[in-house]
Amino acid sequence: LAAEAAAVIADLTGVAHHDIALTLGSGWGKAADVIGETVSVLDAEQVPGFHTSGVPGHSGTLKSIRLENGKHALVIGARTHFYEGRGVRAVVHGVRTAAATGAKIMVLTNGAGGVNPNYAPGQPVLIRDHINLTAASPLEGATFVDLTDLYSQRLRALALEVDPTLNEGVYTQFTGPHYETPAEVRYAGIIGGDIVGMSTALEAIAAREAGMEILGFSLITNLAAGIQETPLSHAEVLEAGRDAEPRLAKLLSEIVTRF
Ligand code: 6GU
Repeated sequence: LAAEAAAVIADLTGVAHHDIALTLGSGWGKAADVIGETVSVLDAEQVPGFHTSGVPGHSGTLKSIRLENGKHALVIGARTHFYEGRGVRAVVHGVRTAAATGAKIMVLTNGAGGVNPNYAPGQPVLIRDHINLTAASPLEGATFVDLTDLYSQRLRALALEVDPTLNEGVYTQFTGPHYETPAEVRYAGIIGGDIVGMSTALEAIAAREAGMEILGFSLITNLAAGIQETPLSHAEVLEAGRDAEPRLAKLLSEIVTRF
């Protein structure tokens, strides 16, 4: 299905080969407007295996963008979350399609909750590693894939050159769609997590399987349950995303030109 989707993207955009791909989660969407010149915008429904997400904060489009350095970026604003129940294959379809278009670098972004008490809402965090608590894998059969340096040291160094103040943290993927309990958040912290979210880890595994280099970012949209005193709401997540968007867009556009 990924090969089929990539063929449709090549056909509809007129871009035969993409060099990099970005999945833009909550708070990161504006990056699509500033990283380069938009060549083509596709509706998720036009491309096999993609769906217009029912989740507010996701654009429901795929964009082909030409960067300043002449490289072509596929920007995926339609991600399937594990909690949508379409299965793990649907969750990683965007990544596999990106790989099939030729992309060698996969940038995965999301909006997530802060567990590390040093984090503040509105802050982007570079993902250093992850803990996959979904009890699922996108790999099928006896596919033993090494996940050492999953979130590329090389790309993280590039990001830190652009913004030396970036924090690096360990992303913990829960299934959602409910937020964690305070006890689960404490658990995430004890086992080494700095961030809790509902995406990215499974996608990173699929990207590694496809041989891509991976860069991951979380926008801390709120502190996780028990870390912040007030109840969590999706409205709060969206608001933090809107406020941080211009800064995140600038950060990503400076990073991608260095790839
Ligand atoms: Cl607190 N948890 C999870 N799993 N995802 C989130 C979040 C929290 N805040 C934003 N996204």
